[in-house]
Amino acid sequence: MKKIAILEGDGIGPEAMAEGIKVLKVIEARNDITFDLVHAPFGATAWFSHGSSFPEETKKLVDEADAVIKGPIGLSHEESKQIPVDEQPERGALLPMRARMNTYANYRPVFLPKALAHFSPLKPEIIGEGIDLIMVRELVGGVYFGKKERGVNAEGKRYVTEALEYDEDQIRNILVKAFDLAMTRKKVLHNIHKSNVLKSSVLWNEVLEEVKVDYPEVEVIHMLVDAAATHLCLNPTQFDVMVMENMFGDILSDQGGGILGSLGLMPSACIGPNSAYYEPSHGSAPDIAGKGIANPYSLIGSFAMMLEYSFDMKEESKNIWDAMQAVFAAGFSTSDLSKPGSGVTMLSTSEFGDKVVEYLEKNA
Ligand code: NAD
Ligand code: IPM
Ligand code: MN
Repeated sequence: MKKIAILEGDGIGPEAMAEGIKVLKVIEARNDITFDLVHAPFGATAWFSHGSSFPEETKKLVDEADAVIKGPIGLSHEESKQIPVDEQPERGALLPMRARMNTYANYRPVFLPKALAHFSPLKPEIIGEGIDLIMVRELVGGVYFGKKERGVNAEGKRYVTEALEYDEDQIRNILVKAFDLAMTRKKVLHNIHKSNVLKSSVLWNEVLEEVKVDYPEVEVIHMLVDAAATHLCLNPTQFDVMVMENMFGDILSDQGGGILGSLGLMPSACIGPNSAYYEPSHGSAPDIAGKGIANPYSLIGSFAMMLEYSFDMKEESKNIWDAMQAVFAAGFSTSDLSKPGSGVTMLSTSEFGDKVVEYLEKNA
């Protein structure tokens, strides 16, 4: 029996989560495994219902679960003003959960096969044989977790300090993960940094030279983060594994969603030394929440990543990916990826989940 904490989150979280669970039930039914799905409050919804965006009961569950699946959290810009800044779900729940579980390695695949190139805003000749890269993002350090201070200076002006902090162990840990991943793929690692300005990147690159010694087969390509943003648009197929610090990874992974055509195609895995949680890279999408049109691929894909990373069920994980690709390849789409009248059959969130189940069952 595997205990899975289900944190639906806010906005489109519950709608998308329902589809991930639908898919997991198929896997459970045909394998010798039982999933005990335990729901717990998390995010802005939890703040309104329980007075905390990360209630004690949820912390306890996260500590004891075999894996955690998390939907997106957060409110729209205006709505978020209802919650005190430090208690907003990003600062009050998500970052504390990352720190608590020490999920320092965040894997964000950016994947679009050639057959689905029409979803991307990029020209087919740029997509070539398809986009298939993974961003490895450091998730528990950097400016997100550095010293912060807000005050009023001697001249009476409001000021703020937010430090980008890393120690060498934190850098080494994430680089080892990235090199390990590169060894299982094309043995090419793009190191994304900003050493022309940031001292943190200078230390990062020093540590990289030390780690690299253990991976003589891996070719390392250094790229400044600003240039990487351009390269992702102009020539994304040059990348295979990209490694970077926390905030660079936040921004470039959203760009990853952009080059695919939607953040709806961005699952992720957040792995720590003893535990892991899985979440879409996208947010709660307040603009479409409750309409039943969100693309659940990122959340279903996060379940697939859980099967692979937490439960070593690689084949079933691949079956889920294949089923989702097959649904798209058969001419179905969700509304984030295609315009009405473009010849595709538009599916709602739950219809997409149903189709994935249908294709998954064909491949039993
Ligand atoms: P967002 O990712 O929620 O939405 C950006 C755009 O992408 C919107 O147009 C949205 O409709 C679209 N989109 C996102 N996911 C989609 C999906 N599955 N299907 C179809 N369209 C999708 O980003 P935002 O609007 O900047 O942020 C909204 C809230 O989400 C904020 O409160 C933010 O802090 C939070 N957020 C949370 C997470 C997380 O929980 N890991 C991640 C990012 C943002
Ligand atoms: C993400 C999100 C989070 C981040 C926010 C919601 C704290 O944007 O998971 O990419 O910046 O890490
Ligand atoms: Mn982000």
